[in-house]
Amino acid sequence: MEARPTGSISRERDLLALRGMDAREIRRLVRLAADPAALREDENPLIGRIVANLFFEDSTRTRLSFSVAAQRLGARVVDLAGPGSSVSKGESLVDTALTVEAMGVSALVVRCKQSGGAELISRAVDIGVINAGDGRHEHPTQGLLDILTLARAAGRLSTLDFSGMTLAIVGDIESSRVARSNIAGMGALGARVVCVGPASMAPASLSTLGCEVSSDLDSILPSADAVMMLRIQFERHEDSARGAEGVPMKSSHESIREYRAGYALTRERHAVMKRGAFVMHPGPMNRGVEIDAEVADAPNSLILTQVARGVDVRMAVLLDRLRPELTRG
Ligand code: CP
Repeated sequence: MEARPTGSISRERDLLALRGMDAREIRRLVRLAADPAALREDENPLIGRIVANLFFEDSTRTRLSFSVAAQRLGARVVDLAGPGSSVSKGESLVDTALTVEAMGVSALVVRCKQSGGAELISRAVDIGVINAGDGRHEHPTQGLLDILTLARAAGRLSTLDFSGMTLAIVGDIESSRVARSNIAGMGALGARVVCVGPASMAPASLSTLGCEVSSDLDSILPSADAVMMLRIQFERHEDSARGAEGVPMKSSHESIREYRAGYALTRERHAVMKRGAFVMHPGPMNRGVEIDAEVADAPNSLILTQVARGVDVRMAVLLDRLRPELTRG
């Protein structure tokens, strides 16, 4: 394929990360997602547009909710997954994106294994790029939907100010793009964010992101207003091992038992959570590993609400990036 110069990044047309986004812009996007009238679903505002989902990693929630969101706004959706595409024949991420852009699509929704992969694509194409999760870097629409979900549940939707609230993010933080987007987004809105896990998954160096770090879940639980559990991302440990960056944690029964003893949100730990606190999980979740089934289904669990709010947030982001004249006053 012909080489082409890299373009300059227009943050207006993309959504690549929450880090660096100011609180006012986060609030604007969350308010848009929270307001059905502002989303103008009845007017099919994205009619004539085509949104391309480029998912080079597996997904259930993000992929389907972007499709549902785009369709609810009148857009058409085309889907490309890594397996079954020419990526499996060695085509690069950027060449694939340029190829799809050349077909006349309006925006790319990108999930990939490479941290920074969405930005790499954004530098090469002239259409909007929405990061749907790039390696261990960020998952900005997940961060926004978590903010919307928690703000509604905690009665903070009118202010979108989390001052005085503590969010505990528990588990495999080092591998987690969801954690990074939430540290940036919830932190920008005033929340105290504490990342909790064993040192191999929650190293002290994470504090440079603006969060606190702890290895003692039991000491944090009674003061947390929301507890966000994360899956152990064994697949990223294997990637690290191949890159000689770290030692993978094995998914043996013994290591899972040890992990659960320190870091699972069990029925017993759920009982000592602060009164009125919420359980969150971005999914996919492994019941019986990082979270007990009855905790996932408890009345204070927001897990399925997070999924529902994901559609609202993705509608807001697609409308804002593709029809900014309708959303920016
Ligand atoms: N939360 C999330 O990104 O889930 P999926 O991997 O199913 O999209």
